[in-house]
Amino acid sequence: LGAQRAARVLELVRAVPDYPGPGITFRDITGLLADGEAFGHVVEALGDAARAAGGIDLVAGMEARGFLIGAPLATHLGVGFVPLRKAGKLPPPTDTVTYDLEYGTATIELRSGTLPPGARVLVVDDVLATGGTAAAGAELVERGGGVVVGLAFLLELEGLGGRERLAGRDVATLVHVE
Ligand code: PRP
Repeated sequence: LGAQRAARVLELVRAVPDYPGPGITFRDITGLLADGEAFGHVVEALGDAARAAGGIDLVAGMEARGFLIGAPLATHLGVGFVPLRKAGKLPPPTDTVTYDLEYGTATIELRSGTLPPGARVLVVDDVLATGGTAAAGAELVERGGGVVVGLAFLLELEGLGGRERLAGRDVATLVHVE
Protein backbone atom coordinates (compact mmCIF):
# COMPACT_ATOMS: atom_id res chain seq x y z
CA LEU A 1 0.00 0.00 0.00
CA GLY A 2 2.91 2.35 0.70
CA ALA A 3 3.59 4.27 3.89
CA GLN A 4 1.64 7.39 2.97
CA ARG A 5 -1.51 5.56 1.92
CA ALA A 6 -1.29 3.25 4.93
CA ALA A 7 -1.10 6.29 7.20
CA ARG A 8 -4.17 7.74 5.49
CA VAL A 9 -6.07 4.48 6.07
CA LEU A 10 -5.16 4.59 9.75
CA GLU A 11 -6.44 8.16 9.96
CA LEU A 12 -9.75 7.13 8.41
CA VAL A 13 -10.31 4.00 10.54
CA ARG A 14 -11.71 5.17 13.86
CA ALA A 15 -10.64 3.26 16.97
CA VAL A 16 -13.53 3.20 19.46
CA PRO A 17 -12.42 2.12 22.94
CA ASP A 18 -14.64 -0.14 25.08
CA TYR A 19 -17.08 -0.90 22.26
CA PRO A 20 -19.10 -3.12 22.05
CA GLY A 21 -17.87 -4.05 25.54
CA PRO A 22 -15.24 -3.15 28.14
CA GLY A 23 -11.66 -3.72 26.99
CA ILE A 24 -12.61 -4.13 23.32
CA THR A 25 -11.43 -1.54 20.80
CA PHE A 26 -13.78 -1.44 17.81
CA ARG A 27 -12.25 -0.54 14.43
CA ASP A 28 -14.83 1.46 12.52
CA ILE A 29 -14.08 1.39 8.78
CA THR A 30 -17.06 3.51 7.71
CA GLY A 31 -14.88 6.64 7.38
CA LEU A 32 -12.55 4.77 5.04
CA LEU A 33 -15.44 3.46 2.93
CA ALA A 34 -16.75 7.01 2.57
CA ASP A 35 -13.43 8.28 1.19
CA GLY A 36 -13.46 7.30 -2.47
CA GLU A 37 -9.77 7.83 -3.06
CA ALA A 38 -8.52 5.91 -0.02
CA PHE A 39 -11.07 3.12 -0.53
CA GLY A 40 -9.94 2.80 -4.14
CA HIS A 41 -6.30 2.55 -3.06
CA VAL A 42 -7.20 -0.20 -0.61
CA VAL A 43 -8.99 -2.23 -3.28
CA GLU A 44 -6.06 -1.78 -5.69
CA ALA A 45 -3.52 -2.87 -3.08
CA LEU A 46 -5.57 -5.93 -2.13
CA GLY A 47 -5.79 -6.69 -5.83
CA ASP A 48 -1.99 -6.64 -6.06
CA ALA A 49 -1.79 -9.00 -3.07
CA ALA A 50 -4.37 -11.29 -4.65
CA ARG A 51 -2.46 -11.48 -7.90
CA ALA A 52 0.73 -12.26 -5.97
CA ALA A 53 -1.06 -15.14 -4.24
CA GLY A 54 -1.71 -16.79 -7.61
CA GLY A 55 -4.59 -17.34 -9.98
CA ILE A 56 -7.90 -16.65 -8.30
CA ASP A 57 -11.28 -17.82 -9.56
CA LEU A 58 -13.47 -16.31 -6.83
CA VAL A 59 -13.34 -13.94 -3.86
CA ALA A 60 -15.20 -15.09 -0.72
CA GLY A 61 -16.12 -12.40 1.81
CA MET A 62 -16.98 -12.83 5.50
CA GLU A 63 -20.27 -11.29 6.63
CA ALA A 64 -20.68 -8.44 7.06
CA ARG A 65 -17.72 -6.14 6.66
CA GLY A 66 -15.85 -8.63 4.51
CA PHE A 67 -18.59 -8.06 1.92
CA LEU A 68 -17.75 -4.36 1.77
CA ILE A 69 -14.13 -5.07 0.89
CA GLY A 70 -14.52 -8.38 -0.92
CA ALA A 71 -17.20 -7.44 -3.47
CA PRO A 72 -15.36 -4.44 -4.96
CA LEU A 73 -12.14 -6.46 -4.90
CA ALA A 74 -13.83 -9.23 -6.90
CA THR A 75 -15.01 -6.83 -9.60
CA HIS A 76 -11.58 -5.18 -9.63
CA LEU A 77 -10.03 -8.62 -10.28
CA GLY A 78 -12.73 -9.54 -12.79
CA VAL A 79 -13.91 -12.58 -10.82
CA GLY A 80 -17.10 -13.52 -8.98
CA PHE A 81 -17.94 -13.01 -5.31
CA VAL A 82 -19.19 -15.55 -2.78
CA PRO A 83 -20.72 -14.44 0.54
CA LEU A 84 -19.87 -16.54 3.60
CA ARG A 85 -22.90 -15.73 5.72
CA LYS A 86 -23.83 -15.82 9.37
CA ALA A 87 -26.24 -18.62 10.28
CA GLY A 88 -29.85 -18.37 9.20
CA LYS A 89 -29.45 -15.91 6.33
CA LEU A 90 -29.19 -18.30 3.39
CA PRO A 91 -31.96 -20.64 2.23
CA PRO A 92 -31.07 -24.36 2.27
CA PRO A 93 -29.11 -26.26 1.21
CA THR A 94 -25.98 -24.85 2.83
CA ASP A 95 -22.58 -26.07 3.95
CA THR A 96 -21.78 -24.91 7.49
CA VAL A 97 -18.87 -24.50 9.88
CA THR A 98 -19.31 -23.81 13.59
CA TYR A 99 -16.43 -22.26 15.53
CA ASP A 100 -15.69 -21.09 19.06
CA LEU A 101 -16.00 -17.50 20.19
CA GLU A 102 -14.84 -16.11 23.52
CA TYR A 103 -18.34 -16.81 24.83
CA GLY A 104 -20.22 -19.48 22.92
CA THR A 105 -20.03 -20.45 19.28
CA ALA A 106 -20.84 -19.00 15.87
CA THR A 107 -21.86 -20.66 12.60
CA ILE A 108 -21.18 -19.50 9.06
CA GLU A 109 -22.77 -20.83 5.90
CA LEU A 110 -22.12 -21.13 2.19
CA ARG A 111 -24.75 -21.97 -0.39
CA SER A 112 -24.04 -25.60 -1.34
CA GLY A 113 -22.77 -26.01 -4.86
CA THR A 114 -21.65 -22.40 -5.27
CA LEU A 115 -18.01 -23.32 -5.74
CA PRO A 116 -17.00 -25.28 -8.82
CA PRO A 117 -14.87 -28.23 -7.60
CA GLY A 118 -11.27 -27.09 -7.15
CA ALA A 119 -12.15 -23.40 -7.51
CA ARG A 120 -9.27 -21.21 -6.34
CA VAL A 121 -10.67 -18.87 -3.71
CA LEU A 122 -9.31 -15.81 -1.89
CA VAL A 123 -10.96 -15.29 1.52
CA VAL A 124 -11.38 -11.60 2.42
CA ASP A 125 -12.31 -9.69 5.55
CA ASP A 126 -11.81 -6.19 6.93
CA VAL A 127 -10.01 -7.15 10.14
CA LEU A 128 -7.78 -10.03 11.26
CA ALA A 129 -7.95 -10.24 15.06
CA THR A 130 -7.88 -13.72 16.66
CA GLY A 131 -8.26 -15.31 13.24
CA GLY A 132 -11.20 -17.44 14.34
CA THR A 133 -13.57 -16.01 11.74
CA ALA A 134 -11.08 -16.30 8.90
CA ALA A 135 -10.02 -19.84 9.85
CA ALA A 136 -13.68 -20.86 9.82
CA GLY A 137 -14.13 -19.13 6.45
CA ALA A 138 -11.21 -21.05 4.97
CA GLU A 139 -12.56 -24.32 6.35
CA LEU A 140 -15.98 -23.54 4.88
CA VAL A 141 -14.52 -22.89 1.43
CA GLU A 142 -12.70 -26.22 1.62
CA ARG A 143 -15.83 -27.99 2.80
CA GLY A 144 -17.60 -26.52 -0.23
CA GLY A 145 -15.01 -28.04 -2.57
CA GLY A 146 -12.81 -24.98 -3.11
CA VAL A 147 -9.08 -24.44 -2.66
CA VAL A 148 -8.03 -21.53 -0.42
CA VAL A 149 -5.31 -19.71 -2.34
CA GLY A 150 -4.88 -17.10 0.38
CA LEU A 151 -6.54 -14.74 2.84
CA ALA A 152 -6.47 -10.95 2.58
CA PHE A 153 -7.39 -8.30 5.14
CA LEU A 154 -7.42 -4.55 5.33
CA LEU A 155 -6.29 -4.38 8.99
CA GLU A 156 -4.24 -6.74 11.14
CA LEU A 157 -4.57 -6.30 14.90
CA GLU A 158 -1.26 -7.55 16.24
CA GLY A 159 -0.84 -9.62 19.36
CA LEU A 160 -4.19 -11.43 19.15
CA GLY A 161 -2.86 -14.60 17.52
CA GLY A 162 -4.45 -14.22 14.09
CA ARG A 163 -1.29 -15.06 12.16
CA GLU A 164 -0.65 -18.11 14.30
CA ARG A 165 -4.23 -19.26 13.84
CA LEU A 166 -3.75 -19.08 10.07
CA ALA A 167 -0.25 -20.63 10.09
CA GLY A 168 0.55 -22.44 6.86
CA ARG A 169 -1.79 -20.25 4.84
CA ASP A 170 -0.89 -17.34 2.57
CA VAL A 171 -1.99 -14.25 4.54
CA ALA A 172 -1.82 -10.66 3.26
CA THR A 173 -2.71 -7.62 5.38
CA LEU A 174 -2.39 -4.00 4.29
CA VAL A 175 -2.16 -2.10 7.59
CA HIS A 176 -0.97 -3.25 11.02
CA VAL A 177 -2.29 -1.96 14.32
CA GLU A 178 -0.58 -2.71 17.63
C1 PRP B 1 -15.34 -8.68 12.99
C2 PRP B 1 -14.49 -8.47 11.75
C3 PRP B 1 -14.03 -9.85 11.41
C4 PRP B 1 -13.88 -10.51 12.77
C5 PRP B 1 -12.45 -10.55 13.18
O1 PRP B 1 -16.59 -9.11 12.58
O2 PRP B 1 -15.25 -7.88 10.70
O3 PRP B 1 -14.97 -10.58 10.64
O4 PRP B 1 -14.63 -9.71 13.70
O5 PRP B 1 -12.29 -11.17 14.42
P1 PRP B 1 -11.52 -12.52 14.67
O6 PRP B 1 -10.26 -12.50 13.84
O7 PRP B 1 -11.22 -12.48 16.14
O8 PRP B 1 -12.42 -13.66 14.30
P2 PRP B 1 -17.92 -9.06 13.47
O9 PRP B 1 -18.06 -10.39 14.13
O10 PRP B 1 -17.88 -7.86 14.34
O11 PRP B 1 -19.05 -8.99 12.39
P3 PRP B 1 -19.58 -7.86 11.34
O12 PRP B 1 -18.55 -7.76 10.25
O13 PRP B 1 -20.85 -8.49 10.85
O14 PRP B 1 -19.76 -6.57 12.07
